[in-house]
Amino acid sequence: MRAGTALGGTVMRTILVLNAKGGSGKTTVATNLAGYFACAGAKVALVDLDPQASSMDWLSARPADRPRIAAVEGFRKGVRVPRSTEIVVMDAPSRTHDDRLATLVRRTQTIILPVVPSPIDIRAAQRFLQELRELRHVIKTDVKLATIGNRVREGAFITNNLEDYLFGLTLPSGRKLPFLTLLRSSANYIHAAERGLSIFEFAPIATAADREYWQPLTRWLQNKRSVPEN
Ligand SMILES: Nc1ncnc2c1ncn2[C@@H]1O[C@H](COP(=O)(O)OP(=O)(O)OP(=O)(O)O)[C@@H](O)[C@H]1O
Ligand SMILES: [Mg+2]
Repeated sequence: MRAGTALGGTVMRTILVLNAKGGSGKTTVATNLAGYFACAGAKVALVDLDPQASSMDWLSARPADRPRIAAVEGFRKGVRVPRSTEIVVMDAPSRTHDDRLATLVRRTQTIILPVVPSPIDIRAAQRFLQELRELRHVIKTDVKLATIGNRVREGAFITNNLEDYLFGLTLPSGRKLPFLTLLRSSANYIHAAERGLSIFEFAPIATAADREYWQPLTRWLQNKRSVPEN
């Protein structure tokens, strides 16, 4: 699969959810993004790059009457998506570094990096972002990267620390690294994960507070600023 390749008249949109830190919410964000775009009528492929296969488990639990999402076991056979795919969402494994990281970054147009509000996670994100920065220098990719907070509890001291940290990040050009949103810690994500659904497939009243925080992320992903220029 090549990022941005024209296939059957459609240009594939590739989004990688990435953070070397385990448990930062990669699978939660990837599955909910896949659900979001599928519900909006797009032809979506969800690529699980993690042998843990949590995204594939989520798809196995997905009811047949829900908008279809193609399952791609990227960790097993390499990444081949159906020809008609419009949006590819890739769920990365934790501890992705060095050559594997370079390969993944080359394959995508956009990276979403979720960070959990904890001192350990914030420091790990700092180190990982530095690694990405050095890598992008080496492989000369124009991949677009943005951060989001995840599992956030409103008003908690550490949430403010995370927000300040993510807000203050800059690109080597000196421009701000887009920091899009803080997703709440919510049981809705647990219920959704269990049933192969995204939070966008529950009654709006039950998930309105969570959906609201997705808007800056989904809006950015649909804006050309989140896609490399060539
Ligand atoms: N916003 C949230 N609110 C509540 N629970 C969440 C939220 N995000 C993630 N979780 C829960 O936290 C755990 C870790 O999330 P998830 O599996 O998405 O992380 P991951 O980065 O994919 O982990 P791994 O590195 O193991 O692949 C899961 O049990 C998930 O259901
Ligand atoms: Mg995962």
